[in-house]
Amino acid sequence: MENIKAYVQEHKDRFINELIELLKIPSVSADTAYSHDVFETADAVKASLEKAGCDFVEICDTPGYPIVYGEKIIDPNLPTVLVYGHYDVQPPDPVELWTSPPFEPVIKKTEIHPEGAIFARGACDDKGQMYMHVKALEYMVQSNTLPCNVKFMIEGEEEIGSKSLSWFVERNQEKLKNDVILISDTGMISNQQPSITTGLRGLSYVEVEVTGPNRDLHSGLYGGAVANPINVLAKMIASLHDENNHITIPGFYDNVEELSLEERAEMAKAPFNLDNYKKALDLNDVYGEKGYVTNERNSIRPTLDVNGIWGGYTGEGAKTVIASKAFAKISMRLVPNQDWEQITELFTKHFTSIAPAGVTVLVKPHHGGQGYVTPIDSIGYKAANMAYTETFGVPAIPVRSGGSIPIVALFEKELKSKTILMGFGLDSDAIHSPNEHFGIFNYLKGIETIPLFYKYFVELSK
Ligand code: BES
Ligand code: MN
Ligand code: MN
Repeated sequence: MENIKAYVQEHKDRFINELIELLKIPSVSADTAYSHDVFETADAVKASLEKAGCDFVEICDTPGYPIVYGEKIIDPNLPTVLVYGHYDVQPPDPVELWTSPPFEPVIKKTEIHPEGAIFARGACDDKGQMYMHVKALEYMVQSNTLPCNVKFMIEGEEEIGSKSLSWFVERNQEKLKNDVILISDTGMISNQQPSITTGLRGLSYVEVEVTGPNRDLHSGLYGGAVANPINVLAKMIASLHDENNHITIPGFYDNVEELSLEERAEMAKAPFNLDNYKKALDLNDVYGEKGYVTNERNSIRPTLDVNGIWGGYTGEGAKTVIASKAFAKISMRLVPNQDWEQITELFTKHFTSIAPAGVTVLVKPHHGGQGYVTPIDSIGYKAANMAYTETFGVPAIPVRSGGSIPIVALFEKELKSKTILMGFGLDSDAIHSPNEHFGIFNYLKGIETIPLFYKYFVELSK
């Protein structure tokens, strides 16, 4: 593996340019206007896997966007690593807040990335992180150091709930057979302190609709005499948290695992600076559930957040009107053992029950998924830690993340294997936000670290 550093140095400009080409295709899965681009990106990923040295690559059609599958099987008796990633990206809006167009990648220096970062939608989540694996494969094939079998499964619907991937995994258990699943779609603490994600939160996502009168009304003629759906919705939403910021839905916390004081003390050892955290977000204070600190609130505790709310008149000037309907999109982040379908039911029952007379309420479930925790004594975790230790010079710290990759719990259920979350992004990389970027340092370091994971995984598997 001596040569991986040299290989990356020699080919880094090409590695960066190839990623830039991939980032130019706007593969926004949420918006059907980009449908053609999503398919085109799948083709580009297929071509990149062929070029990197897979023996077999195919586009697998699904009821939705295709899954790119590739493999290089060198010996059926050796272990198999299954790499998962996604080639779809979040919508770029609000586009006007980008300092350069989201699908015209440029390299800019930042305080955190003095050597430059690629700015584009998907740079970090997840095209950049996924492509590190393609380039790591290229290196291992070119240098004849691939120590085991490898399979790639790159999907195009992660940002919209991975529906087609569930369909695909259930139907292809034999094809996807593996000894460990490797994913780079999470983050790490900092460029000086790597971390391995040991937990992901689950998710229940719902949309609510509150209906009052059968048409929009004059707010003078009717105001005060009929329920205003926007007033009512605001009140109902406000009641979902109590004064301690606990969620008030009956049964919501029933299966929530309480961490021991020792476990919480262990978590508190991870480097974190509250002042810098506030400064980075221009906040005068943090906010959240009483009895927990910031790093607990965003990882081991469940949450309920309104993601969008609308209704009535929001155009220029004033219009005196009581809207007929009000809407909100609400996400609940869940911790392991909370079942997302059960939580969706509890929410629906409770939200419907608190509606006052004078309105009707409709709850439409969107998607969801279970949380995930992974032990730190598995061969996969140890191999990842050895790889990070070698390239960063310090061991990785296990960290539970607040984000969700719902398909990971399904992988464990259907494919019976553990997932190792080797992320190289930073929280400050602005994924899902305007000006998403991925550090050149992070990209190249990822390409350097991944082959070491293979090496140590195979060594430890013997
Ligand atoms: N890569 C993210 C999830 C992530 C990011 C986990 C950083 C941990 C650290 C993924 O693409 C994502 O955005 N997931 C969605 C869920 C999905 C069902 C839309 C999320 O977490 O909101
Ligand atoms: Mn992602
Ligand atoms: Mn994402």
